[in-house]
Amino acid sequence: MNSDFIKYQAQTSPYPLGMEVSHAVGSYIYDTSDKKYLDFVAGVSACTLGHQHPRVNQAIKDQLDKYSHVMVYGEYSQSPAVEYCKLMASLLPEPLNKTYLVNSGTEAIEGSLKLARRVTGRSQLISCHNAYHGNTMGSMSVMGFEERKQAFRPLIPDIDFITFNNEEDLLKITSKTAGVLLETIQGGAGFIEPFNDYLKKVRDRCTKVGAMMILDEIQPGFGRTGKLFGFQNYDIVPDIIAMGKGMGGGMPVGAFTASAEMMDLLTENPKLGHITTFGGHPVIASACLATLQELVETDLMNEALNKEKLFRSLLVHPLIEEVRGKGLMLAAMTKNAEITNEVILRCQSKGLILFWLLFEGCAIRITPPLTISENEIREGCAILKEVMDEVALLN
Ligand SMILES: Cc1ncc(COP(=O)(O)O)c(C=O)c1O
Repeated sequence: MNSDFIKYQAQTSPYPLGMEVSHAVGSYIYDTSDKKYLDFVAGVSACTLGHQHPRVNQAIKDQLDKYSHVMVYGEYSQSPAVEYCKLMASLLPEPLNKTYLVNSGTEAIEGSLKLARRVTGRSQLISCHNAYHGNTMGSMSVMGFEERKQAFRPLIPDIDFITFNNEEDLLKITSKTAGVLLETIQGGAGFIEPFNDYLKKVRDRCTKVGAMMILDEIQPGFGRTGKLFGFQNYDIVPDIIAMGKGMGGGMPVGAFTASAEMMDLLTENPKLGHITTFGGHPVIASACLATLQELVETDLMNEALNKEKLFRSLLVHPLIEEVRGKGLMLAAMTKNAEITNEVILRCQSKGLILFWLLFEGCAIRITPPLTISENEIREGCAILKEVMDEVALLN
């Protein structure tokens, strides 16, 4: 591992994977010794169209040749951002017709929470146990995993937690609640889908008490579950959606979308209710626009469901207890975290990139680019099974 990487670049854990990246194309990443790795992780659900997608690259280059950053968010009309927000409005159900562009997923959450407070004039925010929404102070306050928050307390007050898929807990949502924030499909918790019309029940409760229903679509969004957004699988319309990750086709971005009526409240009392220097950056917005156009003009979103079927038919092995998730947001569950760890590390050395989930040690993350081919899926699953055979002998 490059010692300067450890010495000079701040780290997030004592044991980074440390691959020295040379270049990446399509579904593959190459290291500096020219070893090729099949990417089943897509930069943790960010590289929707794989690496170096020609349409995204071209959009970035074209925009760079015109102008890059010229003004803070919201002052000048810059066509990549305007076109993006317009296209997004045309793809979402009413009244989700106005989008605020920011720079990361966690900022999209911050903006969503602020908007819920601004719209309702209430302060209480509710999220779920085991939820992950990002790492800034507000997002961390609504993270449902105490172990990772303790050292950073005090966080923001008036937060309460419910259990995802638990209907009785919905009574905790009351006329004091500003917003209820849920991941449409829980990510860090282990790719847990809502069941038994849970999201409809949350919707009904929020409508009844006048609380904002906020969905975090940062992982399921952008085609990964077969629809543009995960919530479109469950026949509901939230009040606010937060997006990020796959939105930029590999570029850093986030956004939150709500009705124009609600969004416009951020412009007065106080004005500048949410501001950002780089939000809507023209180069990033061009990448977002190219990614979104590619998704809606091709069959990639539908194909995600066929690819899920292929994965499920191949992910059969005595070490795999269950495959969770939807579309290309899948987690192969093993019996324990040791097995999962061993499998992920051995796969990496054999040229297959897999990853962990934040709070569920048994899960092996499988979130490849939507552009992955059937042959690549077969190739990766063959490596995974070969490694699982080895690991099974150790246990
Ligand atoms: C569900 C969810 N919400 C929010 C975030 C935060 O996004 P970012 O890392 O871009 O701030 C993530 C990132 O992993 C996420 O998975």
